[in-house]
Amino acid sequence: MQKKPVGYKELGLVNSRKLFEKAVTGGYAIPAYNFNNLEQLQAIVMACVETKSPVILQVSKGARNYANETLLRHLARGAVEYAEELGSPVPIVLHLDHGDTFELCKDCIDSGFSSVMIDGSHLDYDENVALTRKVVEYAHTHDVTVEGELGVLAGIEDEVSAETHTYTQPEEVEDFVSKTGVDSLAISIGTSHGAFKFKPGEDPKIRLDILEEIEQRIPGFPIVLHGSSSVPQDLVRTINEHGGKLKDAIGIGEDQLREAARSAVCKINIDSDGRLAMTAAVRKVLDEHPEEFDPRKYLGPARDALKVLYMHKIRNVLGSDGKA
Ligand code: G3H
Ligand code: 13P
Ligand code: ZN
Repeated sequence: MQKKPVGYKELGLVNSRKLFEKAVTGGYAIPAYNFNNLEQLQAIVMACVETKSPVILQVSKGARNYANETLLRHLARGAVEYAEELGSPVPIVLHLDHGDTFELCKDCIDSGFSSVMIDGSHLDYDENVALTRKVVEYAHTHDVTVEGELGVLAGIEDEVSAETHTYTQPEEVEDFVSKTGVDSLAISIGTSHGAFKFKPGEDPKIRLDILEEIEQRIPGFPIVLHGSSSVPQDLVRTINEHGGKLKDAIGIGEDQLREAARSAVCKINIDSDGRLAMTAAVRKVLDEHPEEFDPRKYLGPARDALKVLYMHKIRNVLGSDGKA
């Protein structure tokens, strides 16, 4: 069936441009929370309304395949109305996380996304520039904002995995930004995807010095940090106490993320911590109440735990509370 194009403005969504301008000058970062189901979305909206924070709802290619892109789009539209019903509308961006082809980005732009990431970080520099430029040209004719990436994060990104970090080279950022026309830039400074970001015994530090150098080269330009979960150890403990097997799970210290958010970093991506919070809550209920089989009895507590986690990040790590 041929789908009718849908523009994000019809859905009540916003692009990220103004949010980033305010975040850069205000010294805080916008939360970019991934979602692929109803409970995650409910928790995100409740947390952002209660703290009066703008929010970026992120959908990965995998999430789109899992939950169906039509359903996700309607959920995002519902999020706008739900926030209004809760009494305090907040700016909501619907963002494609780690788009890997022009076609995927175009498809999202044509179906209501207000922001897309084109992740050409695994390509040669010139190929990355060309692909990113192509996406920007299409996106900007629809007033959709684009995030590009320079440098490669260690760990798994969709189907691609890298053993070690390839840090972003500060001397490349100015050229990349001006040649591509991107609205924001994801950089690699030692964060990584998933729950195992450092090895035991390793100094769990990210390279804030590289961030500073990048900021000096492109002052005021919106910078994005992927792989920014902190892997709360109480959640890891709860998971392991109730039958889980997560060994040596280590994340990024909240103090380092707070410092990054005070500077040019205006979008911080968090997915794994939400997965841990949900898993801990579900495991605990099912372990302590093996007679339960109503999904609401374990997904409800998971949703509550997510809301607490998201509010904590907004208030204590990102600093975006009250900025809606
Ligand atoms: O960057 C990765 C995000 O955590 C999304 O993960 O591709 O498994 O949905 P996913
Ligand atoms: P985490 O795995 O650290 O939550 O990172 C998520 C992310 O970067 C999504 O793009
Ligand atoms: Zn990412």
